[in-house]
Amino acid sequence: MSDNQVLDEIKTRLDLAETIGKEVTLKRAGSTLKGLCPFHTEKTPSFVVFPHSNTWHCFGCGEGGDIFSFVMKRENLSFSEALHLLARQAGVELRKPDEADIAAAQEREQLLALLSTAATTYHQWLIDGERGGAARNYLERRKISPATVEQFQLGYAPPQWDGLLKTLTSRGIQPAALEKVGLVIARENGGYYDRFRHRLLFPIRDPQGKVIGFGGRALDDETQPKYLNSPQTPLFDKGRVLFGLDVAREAIRKADNVIIVEGYMDVLTAHQHGFQNVIASMGTALTREQFRTLKRLTRSLVFALDADQAGSTATQRGLERAREALDQKTVPVITSRGLVRQEHEVDADIHVLVLPEGMDPDDLIKQRPAQWQQLVQSALPVVDYLFSRAIRDFDPQSAKAKSHLTEELLPVIADILDPVQRVHYLQKLAQLVRVDERVLDQQLARTRRHRAGTAPATDEEEQVQASMAFGLEEYCLFLLLVRPALFETVEQYGLTDSDFQRVENREIFIALKNRGPEAISLHDNPLDEEAFIESLDSIVANHLRNVIRAYESQPPIPTENLQSEVEVAAQSLRLRNENKELSEITLILRTVSEEKAPSEKENALWTRIVELHRSIRSREQDLYSRTYAGHVERYRQSA
Ligand code: UTP
Ligand code: MN
Repeated sequence: MSDNQVLDEIKTRLDLAETIGKEVTLKRAGSTLKGLCPFHTEKTPSFVVFPHSNTWHCFGCGEGGDIFSFVMKRENLSFSEALHLLARQAGVELRKPDEADIAAAQEREQLLALLSTAATTYHQWLIDGERGGAARNYLERRKISPATVEQFQLGYAPPQWDGLLKTLTSRGIQPAALEKVGLVIARENGGYYDRFRHRLLFPIRDPQGKVIGFGGRALDDETQPKYLNSPQTPLFDKGRVLFGLDVAREAIRKADNVIIVEGYMDVLTAHQHGFQNVIASMGTALTREQFRTLKRLTRSLVFALDADQAGSTATQRGLERAREALDQKTVPVITSRGLVRQEHEVDADIHVLVLPEGMDPDDLIKQRPAQWQQLVQSALPVVDYLFSRAIRDFDPQSAKAKSHLTEELLPVIADILDPVQRVHYLQKLAQLVRVDERVLDQQLARTRRHRAGTAPATDEEEQVQASMAFGLEEYCLFLLLVRPALFETVEQYGLTDSDFQRVENREIFIALKNRGPEAISLHDNPLDEEAFIESLDSIVANHLRNVIRAYESQPPIPTENLQSEVEVAAQSLRLRNENKELSEITLILRTVSEEKAPSEKENALWTRIVELHRSIRSREQDLYSRTYAGHVERYRQSA
């Protein structure tokens, strides 16, 4: 059972009215049950249980919620305590996530410590004594300075089959642990041997600077492979990590720009020459995961491509993926029912620089650093780059070549949502293939329509679906996580924890709120974010992790929109709950006899109804005016 199902299962197995009935004497009133509120003193009942929605509400003191919030309040329990209590009553078995999680976290720490020890050991072998002589000479030939060796903590693995194995096992480390992190390999007939032998080692680190794997370069041109990398391990996932990100992170943020190169050496040389916003993809096209990581730091990417690589289809595919993953900004659209929907607009900021024939960044920066800088500055926007590439061998006489060019470039143009830019490139293409622009425009419209209806890529389908299961509550929490100062706004709109119907969300809201509006953005600080999540009950923590993952898999919310996004979310949540309260009160009043004069209680409810109507109207108006303004704005943009 998933965490989610566990909570639902408890709620269906336990009867809310029965649970509350043990504490409060309830009397049936129409389709509801009524009693004296246990949370404030009163003589006539205003505490109501709604069996059809499994909720309760006191119209006297305003408290309300589901079975969890009742037990938490009544028994003064934390969410975890209430969960355990109710699970026991319901006969629902809770998985023991805490123990398993703690064990996994402990193992992770141990493996990280082990990799760090290995890195230090390899580093000592490089810089001390005779052993590292060959590797030091190699580094000298490649003009890598001792300062760079220190900064990246480069290392050397000696030629023996058991150099590292012996050294580390003599310190009490288990060979099985070494195998787990990919440092040794098990022999078929028992025993182990070192993976890295007689190689220069580049520690590969996570964004926090923890070593998670190694890349090892052969010291001569004969040895194959040229680079041997750590295998996939629980810690090392080549599709996630970016080499150099730990040292480049601040520079990328400051420059609001990242330069992506291919190799370890390219990164080392770039940093040594003061180009600090450079990272490496380690020889493969960037994955969505890697884009997602970068998106947190900047939206502006420069790809450095080798001259021969620049034409390859793999590169083209990589760039397309980059466009998919990054070229979009999110525009909030408010539907007539007050829901926030995200629509995407292209906000292209991917540039491409092509290196001189036969050179990689390492060669170029060493030989002509000024030219490197100049190439970075004059890097082409990706659309221009794809144009220039496509027309290089274009024969304007050949009909086949014309349709080929159109096929290649039209989808790229279709991606551009800025109408001025789109028309610009469309004209450019029309001139090239000497076809009437209007014909291309029709074709373009078809491509765009088709694009809008296409399903998301399969590897992200799951996440997209997950994100669709999340609604306003989660969206609001995500915004508060990104910018805690927005708490002041949601409070102005009257939002409190009881506006969150899902118990996990309520818990997250309270925990975030306790940090205060001056707290730093958790989202910009992965370590703090993790610590915060860890502090929550594991069911709540898992839910929050899913929420974060779901929103991160979507294009980021532009900073300038955060304020209005949270206003709409808070407004819509209040609206939803006021509507709910209104229908609840209507339900209660329906049971009141019309012969008698209304009691004080009933009068209070009638007053509340008027209040609610007024508030609902003003909230609806606010949302409507935003929708209308949004329409006008969007209309202007696309006109
Ligand atoms: P390159 O072949 O361009 O090597 O591979 P390089 O980075 O220029 O290295 P030097 O200058 O020859 O020493 C680019 C990157 O692809 C990955 C490595 O991350 C490398 O830095 N690669 C390459 C491998 O993982 N294995 C290989 O066998 C080759
Ligand atoms: Mn190279």
